[in-house]
Formats: sequence, C-alpha cells, structure tokens
Amino acid sequence: TYVVTDACIRCKYMDCVEVCPVDCFYEGENMLVINPSECIDCGVCEPECPAEAILPDTESGLEKWLELNATYSAEWPNITRKKDSPPDADEHKGEEGKFEKYFS
Ligand code: SF4
Ligand code: F3S
Repeated sequence: TYVVTDACIRCKYMDCVEVCPVDCFYEGENMLVINPSECIDCGVCEPECPAEAILPDTESGLEKWLELNATYSAEWPNITRKKDSPPDADEHKGEEGKFEKYFS
C-alpha cells in the first residue's frame, strides 16, 4: 500500500484524490489518509503530490504512518474530488515537525 505522511498536514493539495482509481482517500481536518486495505498499490498518486507526502510503505520507517492511515481511514469521510487547499498551504510545504505541531 501507499501511505500519506505528515508532509500533507496543512497542505492538503488534494491532487492525489483526482487520480486514485479506487477512490481510497479519506479526509481529516488537516490531512488526508489512504485506506491501506483498499489501495491497490498502483502508485499513480505518489508523483501527483506537490508536497511529496505520499510514499510506498515498503520504505523503511513508515510504520507509524501506516498505522495512522489505517486508523483514520476508518473514521474520516471518503474524498474523491479536489477542493480548495488551505490558503496558507504553501507556507506549510516542507515544514518540519508538522505532526507534533498541528495534528490533534
Ligand atoms: Fe490510490 Fe493507487 Fe495511490 Fe493506492 S497507490 S492510494 S490505489 S492512487
Ligand atoms: Fe496531501 Fe499531497 Fe494529497 S498534500 S492531500 S497527499 S496531494
């Protein structure tokens, strides 16, 4: 599966949802997540994200994000259409420590 990481937080560009063939993105207030049991591993979303927030879970050190994606995709609503990103999205692009600062 692919997972959304903290680079998405407060950026929410949502280009990812437009390309996913199985519509497996879910929307929280500050970030999106992928449902790992629905993702078919096609990889098309990864290069679409301007924040480089999407990674394959085969990369090391992503256990925390895999767990977070699994947990919140069961709680948050499905999203299939791109909406407006936060007005200050670009200011948060590449910012360090976004999970600790903003994820609640
Ligand atoms: Fe959707 Fe493919 Fe990305 Fe999985 S890898 S979330 S199926 S676009
Ligand atoms: Fe987030 Fe990137 Fe999608 S910033 S909403 S994972 S395009």
